[in-house]
Amino acid sequence: MNARFKSILACPKCRSSLSERRGKLVCGRGHKFEIDGEVPVMTKLDPYLEKEAKAWEDSWKRGVGKRALGAYKKNMKVFERLGYWEESGRATRIIKSKKNWYVLDLGCGNGLSTANIKGGVVVGMDLSKKQMVRASKRYKNNFFVVGDATCLPFRSGIFDLVIAINLFHHLRDKKEVALREVYRVLKKGGVLLAVDPNLTNPIGFTGRGFFKLLGLKRFFPTFPQFALGDDEKQFTKAQYYGFFENSPFKKFKIIPHRIERILFFATILLPPLSKLPGYESFLVFVSRAGEQIVKIPPFDYLCYFWKVEAVK
Ligand SMILES: C[S@@+](CC[C@H](N)C(=O)[O-])C[C@H]1O[C@@H](n2cnc3c(N)ncnc32)[C@H](O)[C@@H]1O
Ligand SMILES: [Zn+2]
Repeated sequence: MNARFKSILACPKCRSSLSERRGKLVCGRGHKFEIDGEVPVMTKLDPYLEKEAKAWEDSWKRGVGKRALGAYKKNMKVFERLGYWEESGRATRIIKSKKNWYVLDLGCGNGLSTANIKGGVVVGMDLSKKQMVRASKRYKNNFFVVGDATCLPFRSGIFDLVIAINLFHHLRDKKEVALREVYRVLKKGGVLLAVDPNLTNPIGFTGRGFFKLLGLKRFFPTFPQFALGDDEKQFTKAQYYGFFENSPFKKFKIIPHRIERILFFATILLPPLSKLPGYESFLVFVSRAGEQIVKIPPFDYLCYFWKVEAVK
């Protein structure tokens, strides 16, 4: 294992440092962790998440891959132009790289967002082992670790930046612990960037909830993930503010963000829509205008994401 990577890891059970023995990481108190290829496995696995990760991947191969990939890419190109770093595709390149910094991409999923952040030591962590092992084979410049956001396998005060794209709303009653853990592993002055969906956005909860309830997946095989996942619990404005107000972060800014997702989802569900003349310019227009509108209460209740920048 890479020495720089190993030096920032700590035992998630007792926080003591780790050494490598016979292909395992072992802490001073004898807690042992497997290493799969290059990926340390620092927690017990969650069968639901592994199943979800596989279902996501399969449906991309089957449906989205063939029918809606063109529409998806068209949307992503626009989002990148607009500076939406939270799109897990290419847009994380927008985060300006620094030479010697330490970055943690928490709940990094397939690792694409991790791979697009440049410079220094950039670590991706997810609870899904399948995704971490594959990401580590695919993105050789990064480090990946299987870990639980509620009990981070890192030493304190290590990271300059932690990003958490659509993670906290999956953690339910454990999210407060996870936020305290993020605070712990950040350096003084380090930054957390996170986004989570807004419950009161019309497609956020209601749309996706109905999609699931009515079993509409069958009719839209291009994007079955549009249905709300069993582990998701989205935030209202008051809940998201409360989440940060009751955390150790004293400096944070919550920004209502994005309204155009309805167009994105519409074109993924019905790809020919994205081929209509002028679709890209229309998307840019709606996004720019929407970004201003959702900053004015009460229209903030309509935004798709709550975006937060918090400083330790
Ligand atoms: C909606 S996905 C977002 C993935 C990625 N950040 C992106 O934007 O594509 C949520 C991710 O959080 C991961 N996750 C859920 N609970 C977790 C936990 N307790 N610790 C670490 N990761 C977790 C899931 O495996 C999943 O990959
Ligand atoms: Zn230990």
